[in-house]
Amino acid sequence: MAKSRPTSHWTLFVSLVVLIACIVVPGATVKHENFKTCQQSGFCKRNRALADNAAAQGASWNSPYELDPATIQFKDGQLTGVIIKTTSTNEKHRLPVTVSFLESGVARVIVDEEKRLKGDIEVRHGSKANKKRYDETEKWVLVDGLKVSKSATLNSQTNSGFTNVLYGPEDKYQAVIRHSPFGVEFQRDGETHVQLNHQGLFNLEHWRPKVEREGESEEDESTWWEESFGGNTDTKPRGPESVGLDITFPGYGHVFGIPEHADSLSLRETRGGPGNHEQPYRMYNSDVFEYELDSPMTLYGAIPFMQAHRKNSTVGVFWLNAAETWVDITKEAANSNPLAMSSHAKTNTKTHWFSEAGRIDLFVFLGPSPQEILKTYGQLTGYSQLPQHFAIAYHQCRWNYVTDEDVKEVDAKFDKYQIPYDVIWLDLEYTDDRKYFTWDSLTFPNPKGMLEKLDESDRKLVALIDPHIKNVDNYFVSQELKSKGLAVLNKDGEIYDGWCWPGSSNWVDCFNPAALPWWISLHKFDRFKGSLSNLFVWNDMSEPSVFNGPETTMPKDNLHFGDWEHRDIHNINGLTLLGYSYDALLERKKGEVRRPFILTRSYYAGAQRTSATWTGDNQATWEHLAISLPMVLTNGIAGFPFIGADVGGFFHNPDKDLLTRWYQAGIWYPFFRAHAHIDTRRREPYLISEPHRTIISQAIRLRYQLLPAWYTAFHEASINGAPIVRPQYYVFPDDEAGFAIGDQLYLGATGLLAKPVLTPDTFTTDIYIADDEKYYDYFDFTVYQGAGKRHTVPAPEDKIPLLIQGGHIVPRRDRPRRSSNLMKWDPYTLILTLNKNGQSEGSLYFDDGETFDYEKGAYIHRHFQFRDSVLSSDDLATKGAKTAEYLKAMAGVTVERVVIIDPPQEWKAKNTVTIIEDGAKAGSTASLQFYEQQGGKASYAVVKSPNVGIGKSWRIEF
Ligand code: NOJ
Repeated sequence: MAKSRPTSHWTLFVSLVVLIACIVVPGATVKHENFKTCQQSGFCKRNRALADNAAAQGASWNSPYELDPATIQFKDGQLTGVIIKTTSTNEKHRLPVTVSFLESGVARVIVDEEKRLKGDIEVRHGSKANKKRYDETEKWVLVDGLKVSKSATLNSQTNSGFTNVLYGPEDKYQAVIRHSPFGVEFQRDGETHVQLNHQGLFNLEHWRPKVEREGESEEDESTWWEESFGGNTDTKPRGPESVGLDITFPGYGHVFGIPEHADSLSLRETRGGPGNHEQPYRMYNSDVFEYELDSPMTLYGAIPFMQAHRKNSTVGVFWLNAAETWVDITKEAANSNPLAMSSHAKTNTKTHWFSEAGRIDLFVFLGPSPQEILKTYGQLTGYSQLPQHFAIAYHQCRWNYVTDEDVKEVDAKFDKYQIPYDVIWLDLEYTDDRKYFTWDSLTFPNPKGMLEKLDESDRKLVALIDPHIKNVDNYFVSQELKSKGLAVLNKDGEIYDGWCWPGSSNWVDCFNPAALPWWISLHKFDRFKGSLSNLFVWNDMSEPSVFNGPETTMPKDNLHFGDWEHRDIHNINGLTLLGYSYDALLERKKGEVRRPFILTRSYYAGAQRTSATWTGDNQATWEHLAISLPMVLTNGIAGFPFIGADVGGFFHNPDKDLLTRWYQAGIWYPFFRAHAHIDTRRREPYLISEPHRTIISQAIRLRYQLLPAWYTAFHEASINGAPIVRPQYYVFPDDEAGFAIGDQLYLGATGLLAKPVLTPDTFTTDIYIADDEKYYDYFDFTVYQGAGKRHTVPAPEDKIPLLIQGGHIVPRRDRPRRSSNLMKWDPYTLILTLNKNGQSEGSLYFDDGETFDYEKGAYIHRHFQFRDSVLSSDDLATKGAKTAEYLKAMAGVTVERVVIIDPPQEWKAKNTVTIIEDGAKAGSTASLQFYEQQGGKASYAVVKSPNVGIGKSWRIEF
């Protein structure tokens, strides 16, 4: 409920507006002129023109690509053949195609160009650029899941002009491959879910020599041979080479994913119209200063992975291409399309993907649930890393903590005000003149002393290390970069020089395998002097950001190892750095292997294996707070869930209300870090006046209290790709009313449903509940029930709207500590809510939180269950060489309390429960207290000190 606005005299109103305009810093907006629109990007314009042309011609449009039937072969789960492209002048171009049917039920379609595979082309301007289409994206992105299915078979019942392949679980999937024009329909249980080239927009711009013509050419060649933007000219030595494809999802009304964009969870249409975008969603990793909201503009990271969703069915596609990519989205009423056979079919969503270079390499997932899609996508690109435990706690950052004494003082202040935190961060300015791997000797004379002080309370430090290397003679990193030949080159084969934080800079080329041992060596304690094992790394600016480059990045005709143009690999540039930094952090001290922690700004599919990310340089406005939730949720369902937004907003100064609400929202980001621009005022939580300081501290403590649930959710993400915070459609895939909701979230599988307040002067909120279970207010147990509607929940400033669904058991730790690692030996509390059948379940995963010993069984994984008046804990773990040792170490850690919300009334008469612990000779008892509540609040009962071992199997009988 918003506060009502005071009505007043017109002049008073005008003066107020003027006054407010003077004191409030408005959210600044992006400089559009620095970034291309589709019209300004040659290949985007050409592919859109193709789509317009096809639409204008309607039924008479003919896609000029035919799969030559004589070339088709099917062997060992793979279909191969040659697509013939016929040009308007009747030239023929041969495009080898492979469709692989993978064991996981995923299908992969690759189309390349024969001439370029053979190197049978000429590259202009004497460029050394590789003649092939870039085919190494998978080397950096894919880790597994490529085994082809032995059971995929050709279907003999196929119409002429088609080749059909049965595959997937129990052969329930079928790929219907049309020869002319080439196209594929992917069916599940006889129904088509994904169509390729259904609209005839398939496009592979074949290589051609530049012909100097007299007079006009038949085709518009204006963007074929070079392109200029913002004073930079791209020489395009290989001419036009884009690839494009339309992908239709018949009967699907929502598409999600393809981060990173500051936009709604459910993606919008992009061809104009009310509420729609005019531009396609762009993926070209970029440092976008003061980015705008509700926009398809590109941002820092790119994951070309999309899910289409409708009631009870999710399918997906992954476009494995590292070059600049755009995606157009349009929707149409399904009943206008005779192909929409399903009863669900209300809308068809049509997407059109195009990339500037590379080959077509597409993975098709047939679901049928978002869970299955993320599992199979994770098999390919890897699951989210299980981070060190500290990494999921609270991070305190700003640009900059200015001296080592400053760091120690901030550290001490957190303790003084009893606010927990785990990690303090150093931005740019700790370095000697922006030379990474060095310290400013005046401001940070004693980095080791600082790190040791932090270590006293088991705290960590993260230091910024960017991929641009200051171009000066007296800097060992620069000297080595040059002498070892590890820098990115310009189009003429000289070391590329651009402008970034240090001024004139060169860039390490992580595509060069020789850069890996060098990068590892730089992180060793004897090279990065002053660093210790509680120092971790922030890789920023790795899009790469180049202040004087085209669109603030590198020229596309720069050259990387293997003579690949920057154009070929742009979107995986940051990913390659991450892989190297990960290896560098793995074993800085011989024998001391710890899980690395790296924050990256630029990312691509696969970055989830090594790092966390954040939404970049946001602003201290309510709108930026609000957009952070759909952005975080989108990354979660796109396979990279370890993400957050700068709490408080990077640019400008948030007022106390905004900052407070931001903390209350920020505790629900998987990556929870406050950060601020160098020009902002200090805003560490202890500096904020009361009551806001206490409210913020309580929010942070809530995060710490729930760390066991968070870590369990991180573990789940690390083994099956489940998002750490989940959107409504993921949890309730059959409830259409919830599909587009992007401002409330579920924490893992805990049943905790949070709806942070995202607007000013708002003291109630509406939480949408999909099912008819009871939901309880987390703090006072007020009951909300009623499926398919919004429930008004009070949200005074000191309260986070948070419900817990009936049917869950949530582990938490209630003793406040200074940092999360100091909670290691603390006992647990279990919170239990019953579902309609009087049952509940939950789980807990825990390990040492820093080493890889969990891979050898050193972890605790419990399944809690309540049924028939018995609460039990069962083992989910698989034993390994280190299990016994770990369980012994954890033997003293117990459950100190069980809280049952809304227990059966007959428990009023009970005073005790019986406890039977595995291995114990006899049962024991613990007290049970029943607390009656009135006025819409559920009663609750508490089992005090059951003291059962957290690593043990046990039963508590009520
Ligand atoms: C850009 C990053 O996005 C921001 O978080 C950081 O503070 C500045 N670089 C300075 O390093």
